[in-house]
Amino acid sequence: MSPGAKALTFSEATSSDAFAERFSGGRDDNLAQLIAAVVTHVHDLIKQFRPTKDEWRSVIEFLTEVGHASDERRQEWVLLSDLIGASALVEEINSRRPKGATPNTIRGPFFRADAPERAQGASISLDGKGTPLFFSGRVQDLDGLPIAGAEVITWQANAEGIYENQQPDLQPEHNLRGLFRTDAEGRFHYRSVMPGGYGVPDDGPVGRLLSAAGYPLRRPAHLHFVVRAKDFEPITTHLYDAGDPHLAEDALFGVRPELIRPFEAVREGQDARSVDFTFVMVRARTGRGT
Ligand SMILES: [Fe+2]
Repeated sequence: MSPGAKALTFSEATSSDAFAERFSGGRDDNLAQLIAAVVTHVHDLIKQFRPTKDEWRSVIEFLTEVGHASDERRQEWVLLSDLIGASALVEEINSRRPKGATPNTIRGPFFRADAPERAQGASISLDGKGTPLFFSGRVQDLDGLPIAGAEVITWQANAEGIYENQQPDLQPEHNLRGLFRTDAEGRFHYRSVMPGGYGVPDDGPVGRLLSAAGYPLRRPAHLHFVVRAKDFEPITTHLYDAGDPHLAEDALFGVRPELIRPFEAVREGQDARSVDFTFVMVRARTGRGT
């Protein structure tokens, strides 16, 4: 607003315009527009639901609790973003891929960048607890040509649905984690155990609010992968067992039809399972892989 110009009078009808006029100050970048849009939506919500002052205070108290529950080890704001589908939506908007390419899903909080490199066929289950699982993977491009030398990092929960870095005193360091490299045919394979599904944390303000509303806080069992290859867009994704009864109610909205495969019995009557999956990568637009 130019100096000396008359500011809009604040009222229910003009509230978001009055904010935008004061806030913009000539800025027109993406972040300024996002903030103005958030405020407009908040004003619209207040006009629609017309909360009492006490009700509005309880909203502020909830957000305060979310902040207090967050520290270096726990990020309650990320949990909130994940559980309302905001993280999945940002991921979707930023990684739209051609048909046939493996879609990205959220990385989640249990990734470790220092997964040890393991030989083809090695087991990532260092304590050997659980139903054996044999994984065979292939990495290829959109034309079906193999990508040799791709780096595949995998991590998963144990049979109880708990990640190694959630219980460092009970599970061996780097249990159920590994880095594999694809061979000349783009293939890799390893041994593991069947992962267990798990509940997202419900001991903080976000979990308490959503579980009080009867919102499902479960994640179906899954394997996590990050796949990297020179000149290709990296893939961050999950693989789900077609037999999991909770596929339709994933708390983090990570399940997609392309990421579901049957974890089949190796032999009839035996517990051991096997699954194979082909990761399809897209060439990086810049021509530089990571
Ligand atoms: Fe997970």
